[in-house]
Amino acid sequence: MPHKVAVLPGDGIGPEVIDEAVKVLRASGGAFEFEYALLGGAAYDETGHPLPAATLDLCKASDAILMGAVGGPKWDRIEPVTLRPEIGALLPLRRELNLYANLRPAKTLRALVHASPLKEGRNMMDLVVVRELTGGIYFGQPRHRAADGSSAVDSCVYHRYEVERIAERAFAIAKARGHKLVSVDKANVLETSRLWREVVDEVAAKNPGVSTSHMLVDNCAMQLIRDPGQFDVILTENMFGDILSDEASMITGSLGLLPSASLSDAKGDAVFGLYEPVHGSAPDIAGQGRANPLAAILSAAMMMRYSFGDGETADRVEAAVEAALSEGLRTADIFEKDTRLVSTSEMGDAVVAKMV
Ligand code: IPM
Ligand code: MG
Repeated sequence: MPHKVAVLPGDGIGPEVIDEAVKVLRASGGAFEFEYALLGGAAYDETGHPLPAATLDLCKASDAILMGAVGGPKWDRIEPVTLRPEIGALLPLRRELNLYANLRPAKTLRALVHASPLKEGRNMMDLVVVRELTGGIYFGQPRHRAADGSSAVDSCVYHRYEVERIAERAFAIAKARGHKLVSVDKANVLETSRLWREVVDEVAAKNPGVSTSHMLVDNCAMQLIRDPGQFDVILTENMFGDILSDEASMITGSLGLLPSASLSDAKGDAVFGLYEPVHGSAPDIAGQGRANPLAAILSAAMMMRYSFGDGETADRVEAAVEAALSEGLRTADIFEKDTRLVSTSEMGDAVVAKMV
C-alpha cells in the first residue's frame, strides 16, 4: 500500500520548497500517493476560507501531511481575524487533527557553525523542543475584547491529560536521544505551570532513566544563549515553545534548515502527523528560486521516520542534505564566500543526487 500524503503547499515560498521535498520523497524509493489541497491565503483567495472543508477532509483521509507555509501581508488585515491564514487555517488544523506534540529539533551543523550569532566554540547545540501544540493560551476560553475596546482577555487553560500525554511523548524522545529532559514553565507565577510541573514530575517518576529538571522560562531563554549545549530535550507548553523554538533556531544560524513534526497519538507503529519547515512563507523572496528547500526536505525525512516508521530512509535523506552542504552548495540565505550559490530546485536536485 502506498503512503497517502496530503500535500499543502500554502503561500509564499511554500509551493517551491514543497516541490523539492516531494522530489526527494519520490527519489527515495518509497511508494507514495500525493494529493494536493489548498491552505492559507491561497485557499482564502480561491474559496473564501483559509481552511476549506475539502482540505480538512483530505488531511483526515491521509496517512500524513506535508505542509509548506501560510500567510503573508496580503492576508494580514482580513476581518474577521478568524479568516486569516494563521488563526483560520493553522490553529484549527492543529486542533482538529489533534496534533498536540510539536517536535522542533535544532542542531548546529559543522558546515554552518560560523553562521550562528553565538561565538564559535560556544554555539554547538543539538536539542529538540517538544512543544505542546493544542492547548494553553492559544486556545483557552474565554477570549474576548470588551465592547468599548478598553480591555481584552486571553485565557491560559491546561488540563492534566494534556500535560500528561505531551510529557510522555517527550520522555520517550529523551530515551531515544541523550536521556536528559528540561521542563520549562513559569511556576513561580502561573497556576497552569504549577499543574504542569506536578504532572511532569509524575511522568518523570515513571522514567527514572531520564535525568529531569525544571527551569523557569526566562532563565531558559537566557541559558540558551549562555550555553545551548546543555540541552537535550526541552519540554514546554504552547506559547513558551513558540518563543524558545524561534530562539533555538536562530542559534543554529540556519533557520532555513529546520524541520518540524506535529504529531497525534500513535496507532501501533504509525503516528499521524503534519510535517512542515519551521520557517515562514517569506513572501519577499517567493517565486524567485531563492528559497532554501532543506527545511522542507528534512521535514519529509521526519515524516518517513515518525509516520512511516522508516528511519533508514530518513537517515539517507539527512545524510544527503549534509553531503550537499559539505560540498559547499548554498542557497542565498546561507551563502558565503567560497561556497557555490544554487537555486531552490538545484539544491533539491543535489540532495537527490547524494542519496544512495
Ligand atoms: C509557529 C508560528 C505559529 C504559532 C503562528 C503563525 C500562529 O509562529 O508555528 O511557531 O505561533 O504557533
Ligand atoms: Mg512561531
